[in-house]
Amino acid sequence: MSADIYKEIILDYYKNPRNKGTLESPDVSVRDSNPLCGDVIEMQMKFEGDKLREIKFNGDGCAISQASASILTEMVSGKTIEEARSLDKSALLENLGSPNLGPVRIKCALLSLKVMKMGIYQHLGGSDATPSPEDLASSR
Ligand code: FES
Repeated sequence: MSADIYKEIILDYYKNPRNKGTLESPDVSVRDSNPLCGDVIEMQMKFEGDKLREIKFNGDGCAISQASASILTEMVSGKTIEEARSLDKSALLENLGSPNLGPVRIKCALLSLKVMKMGIYQHLGGSDATPSPEDLASSR
């Protein structure tokens, strides 16, 4: 995709975020920040059986991080926990328009993926809600 399409996607989701807000009585609530800038993404999730039934995000950050969080919530909402857990960063970047991001901006785009996986792990009962190195490898 061209750079213009990537910018259009980011701007659209940044200006009209989908799934932004809070859930009533979420099963899981997680947040993390990008250590390079301090920008924050928070996600809340509700599960039903083996499905991630609902997911919403809130955040304070750059257009890429916020648009990425919004797109990610659309990608995993209603999917199985396993599908969300194994979502690869390349799938998220593709939905962002395959931007050619440098090492700093890529962290903006992938912050939401890390937070989503932290939420899944918290739900699955991970001792400290921290994904394993193997699972996080796909969100770095
Ligand atoms: Fe902070 Fe992008 S500049 S997440």
